[in-house]
Amino acid sequence: MLIRPYAPSDADAVLALNQAALDGVGPLNQERLSWLAGLTDPALVADDGVVAGFAFVLRPGTAYDSMNYRWFCARHDDFGYLDRIVVAPSRRRHGIATLLYDAAEDSGRQTGLMVCEVYVDPPNVGSLAFHRARGYKEVGRLLQANGKTCAMLAKDLT
Ligand SMILES: CC(C)(COP(=O)(O)OP(=O)(O)OC[C@H]1O[C@@H](n2cnc3c(N)ncnc32)[C@H](O)[C@@H]1OP(=O)(O)O)[C@@H](O)C(=O)NCCC(=O)NCCS
Repeated sequence: MLIRPYAPSDADAVLALNQAALDGVGPLNQERLSWLAGLTDPALVADDGVVAGFAFVLRPGTAYDSMNYRWFCARHDDFGYLDRIVVAPSRRRHGIATLLYDAAEDSGRQTGLMVCEVYVDPPNVGSLAFHRARGYKEVGRLLQANGKTCAMLAKDLT
């Protein structure tokens, strides 16, 4: 499995993965994906001939309009914000998200802090388990515009 940077030619595959995982991540269309990809540092895909998963990371100070991202921007000078991760349903529990997060955390190591949010009410059980297993700790909760509540998570990389 190769973890490599996202390329515009991955857009259709990434959109399909994203739109099949809307219980866990926010929706995207071609235009918003292109805009978001331009803000990421880095955007990563897991590729073994097909795109089996992806993860997007943003640093502070971008124009991203996510309230969750802005919540972290208001509290920390520097971090890697894991905006979204999705692994194809048929490929889960084979360590693909682990490889993507290994690469994302390596890229963010100089910031000292990785952050993200996961639905806790109602719970995204798989994602909460994944993040707990990787050492992410809850640092707050935030009610979302869709009525769900997110746990705000952080991992100290120092
Ligand atoms: C969350 C997600 C990215 C995990 O991807 P994955 O490739 O299956 O994760 P991994 O195989 O690397 O899992 C590593 C460990 O995390 C934990 N874990 C992952 N998924 C789990 C699940 N559904 N239930 C319990 N533990 C889980 C386990 O400890 C696992 O190790 P193990 O398989 O040896 O027991 C995937 O389930 C997904 O794409 N979900 C839909 C989109 C989504 O909700 N994204 C997160 C938004 S916050």
